[in-house]
Amino acid sequence: MKATASANANIALIKYWGKRNEELILPQNSSVSVTLEGLKTVTTVDFDKKYKKDNFTLNGKKISGEPFERIAGFLNIIRKMAGSGLKAKIFSKNFFPTATGLASSSAGGAALALASSKAIGLDLNKKELSLLARRNSGSASRSIEAGFVEWEKGEKEDGTDSFGKQVCDKDYWPEFRIIAGVLNEEEKKTKSRPGMKQSVQTCPFYKVWVENSEKQAKQIKKFIPEKKFTKLGELAENNALMLHSVMFNTILPIVYFSGKTVEMIKAVRKWRASGLECYFTIDAGPQVKIICLEKDIPEIKRKLKGIKAIKKIYICKPGDGARLINKHLF
Ligand code: PMV
Repeated sequence: MKATASANANIALIKYWGKRNEELILPQNSSVSVTLEGLKTVTTVDFDKKYKKDNFTLNGKKISGEPFERIAGFLNIIRKMAGSGLKAKIFSKNFFPTATGLASSSAGGAALALASSKAIGLDLNKKELSLLARRNSGSASRSIEAGFVEWEKGEKEDGTDSFGKQVCDKDYWPEFRIIAGVLNEEEKKTKSRPGMKQSVQTCPFYKVWVENSEKQAKQIKKFIPEKKFTKLGELAENNALMLHSVMFNTILPIVYFSGKTVEMIKAVRKWRASGLECYFTIDAGPQVKIICLEKDIPEIKRKLKGIKAIKKIYICKPGDGARLINKHLF
């Protein structure tokens, strides 16, 4: 009962930050993202009676404590769905830095949902897989699908209408690019889960964030099929800055920015003022992602070479959703 899945990370253009139901992972607002080619996680899951307990290895390291408890809790959901008591062995490998704001949880959660459901004998469709991935990590619900994806917040208390839906496939806008520049590969200090919970409870303008993001999710859903790049970029940048305002205004303040983050924001704005059209977005880490079009990549790459703080860049186009592969990790 072994299966292996590969899933790509997604970067949100309109972000998710805050839950209305902690256990079911139901968001306060809808979010819209791009699943990206090349920011990949591969996960192998084996359910077998030879395992006395669950065990999880990530990037060659055995995981224990809270991160392991989260995985074990997720496996319990799967076991309940399948009516099984079998324990699992899981190997997972990220092909990009883990927990630095490069959305590793979205790729990991989607790969785990697909591999574990298949390994235990469930045959789920994309909607069911997204609903399941959401229970592992909210943003993972958007990595099941390829291309541009909306995670509708939904209305139902049981969460059955809160899952990722494709807005446009990966080949619809092949010139679209996100450049993820790695400024600092240290793992972030505040995890998104406790961080967003604090924001919901203490940010004085949290409600404004929710209303505004909900409106922006609707707007961007129109800009994508119309390929309105300028409008999309402006909106995404605004949404990211508002997210970080919420984080700054959380008690205790959540500051993911480093000095280098600010340097990058200023650089992107300067390039744009000089006619090079690009925008930035930032998640729960210091990384600045640049939103641009293929034609401007050579020039942006040239400019990025001049920024010493950047260690590595990933140039990504819209990519595939989660899929099963034959090559197992063990
Ligand atoms: O799904 P989580 O718990 O990793 O939270 C993701 C939070 C952000 O990356 C900041 C925003 C988003 O929508 O991806």
